[in-house]
Amino acid sequence: MADDATSARTGLDTTVSHSARIWNYWLGGKDNFAVDREAGDRVAAMLPIIVAQARADRAFLGRAVRYLAGPEGIRQFLDIGTGLPTADNTHQVAQQTAPEARIVYADNDPLVLSHARALLTSSPEGACDYIDADLREPEKILSEAARTLDFTQPVALLLLGVLHHISDTGEAYSIVRRLTAALVQGSFLAINHSTSAVSGRAMEEAVAHWNQVGTPSMTLRSPQQIARFFEGLDLLEPGVVSCSRWRPDVSPLGGQPPEVDEFGGVARKPKPATVRPA
Ligand SMILES: C[S@@+](CC[C@H](N)C(=O)[O-])C[C@H]1O[C@@H](n2cnc3c(N)ncnc32)[C@H](O)[C@@H]1O
Repeated sequence: MADDATSARTGLDTTVSHSARIWNYWLGGKDNFAVDREAGDRVAAMLPIIVAQARADRAFLGRAVRYLAGPEGIRQFLDIGTGLPTADNTHQVAQQTAPEARIVYADNDPLVLSHARALLTSSPEGACDYIDADLREPEKILSEAARTLDFTQPVALLLLGVLHHISDTGEAYSIVRRLTAALVQGSFLAINHSTSAVSGRAMEEAVAHWNQVGTPSMTLRSPQQIARFFEGLDLLEPGVVSCSRWRPDVSPLGGQPPEVDEFGGVARKPKPATVRPA
C-alpha cells in the first residue's frame, strides 16, 4: 500500500504501526504500511510462531461461524474488532451456510473504516452493516447494531483478537457483561484472546516489544482469566483452549494441531435461572 497517498486520502498516521495492519501483514494481506511490516517482522523474529497464530485465529473464526450458522442455526452476528477485510470474512462464512444471515461489523481503526465497503458485500437475502466504534462504548455499538440486528432473536457476538487491547481487566469483563446482557437466551459468545500459556517468556517479550512500537497496546491474560469472560454462560466443548484446538478439522495425518498463544472458546447464553419460591 502506498503510504503517502493513503495518508493524504484518509488522514491516517502511517508512521505508527497498528494492530489491524500488522495482523493483515501476517495474514498475507496488502493493506499495511512499511512501518507495520517492519514491526511485524521484528515481532515475528522474536516469536516465529506468531504468523501461524494469526492464521490459527482466522481459521477459528471460520470454524466457529460455520458451526454457529450451521448446527446452531444462528442468523445474526455482531463482530467487534473486525480487522481489515481478508479472505473468509464473517459474512462470507455465515452466508455460505445461511444466505439470509445478517452481520454487523464494528472496529475503531480508520483504515478498517476506509476498507469497510469490502465488508458490506452481503448476499441479497441477508444484510451487512459497519459501525465505526470503540469496544469501550458497548451501548453505542448495541444501539447502532439494532439498525440491522433484531435483538429479540439470538445473536452470535464475536470478540476475536480484540479484548487483549483493553488493558484494564475489570473494564474488559464489564464490557463483555454489558454486551451479553443485551442478548437473548440462545445467543452465543465467541472469544479469542492472546496469552503466554504456550510460549511463556518469548510471547511476553514479543508483546512487551509490541507495546513499545505498536498501537493499541496488548495485555496478555491466562487461560483462567480468559475463561472468566464466559461466566454465567454455558461453555461448549472443548471449553477454553488454544484456538488451533477448538474443534479442529480432521487431519489426514491424525493428531492435534500445535497449540498457539491465542486461547478462546464459544458459549451459549442459557435460560435465566428460575428462582423457586421459599
Ligand atoms: C488482531 S485484529 C483481529 C481481527 C479479527 N477479529 C480476527 O480475529 O482476525 C484486532 C482488531 O481489533 C481492533 N480494535 C482494537 N482495539 C479496539 C477497540 N477498542 N475497539 C474496536 N476495535 C478495536 C483493531 O483495529 C483490529 O482491527
